[in-house]
Amino acid sequence: MALRKLIAGNWKMNGTRASLAEVAAIEAAATAAGHVDVALCPPFTLIDAMMQAADTVVIGGQDCHHAVKGAHTGCVSAAMLADLGASHVIVGHSERRTDNGETDDLVRAKAEATIAAGLIAIVCVGETEAERDAGRAGVVVGDQLDGSLPPAATARQLVVAYEPVWAIGTGRTPSCDDVAEMHGMIRAKLLAILGEEGVGVRILYGGSVKPDNAAELLAIADVDGALVGGCSLTAAQFVPIIEAAA
Ligand code: G3P
Repeated sequence: MALRKLIAGNWKMNGTRASLAEVAAIEAAATAAGHVDVALCPPFTLIDAMMQAADTVVIGGQDCHHAVKGAHTGCVSAAMLADLGASHVIVGHSERRTDNGETDDLVRAKAEATIAAGLIAIVCVGETEAERDAGRAGVVVGDQLDGSLPPAATARQLVVAYEPVWAIGTGRTPSCDDVAEMHGMIRAKLLAILGEEGVGVRILYGGSVKPDNAAELLAIADVDGALVGGCSLTAAQFVPIIEAAA
């Protein structure tokens, strides 16, 4: 089943108020594209201002705490992001799994907190290069899905992003056959975990998505969009990716 594509930009720890100048052209492209959903996930510091600058483009957070509120210095809850008008939260990005030791259990708790706040959880999974070289990519990603996905989620509440760790920020991407195989496995896993709801969950590919490879990647079966890092920081690079999905 062809799902409406989602092109999401993850600004990571990049951007200051001056960067908001990029939003107008991204907004115009999203409006012109029509049949594509476009999201931007800036640092927390820019969410409110970006919300004012965007309309068609929806805004998300890059992480959240699994609790609603409390004594957790430096943390932000999904409920706080909802209060700002955000619509999505990225959870379980490999950089957080690595830098902050986030486990599948914690990622699932964050995804559940996101959904409880009325937002859409973008749950990230992906294997390292060593795991792929050892022929374990499918098993690793399958285990991450088993551990990280909230089993009661509906298709409207959940997005999965497959981001091979070795492809992030490296300029390298898996072959189209490898992407197709992994996304097919993820779809089967979604059906096993969520039942019929798994049919409608969008599966994004992430890792060195660029203007010149976006069309090819987005044409692969079960690639329902992209999670874009570096090339989402400027309209010059992000707009052609949105157009490739239209
Ligand atoms: O979340 C997006 C990301 O990890 C991919 O980054 O810079 O390879 O597009 P990049």
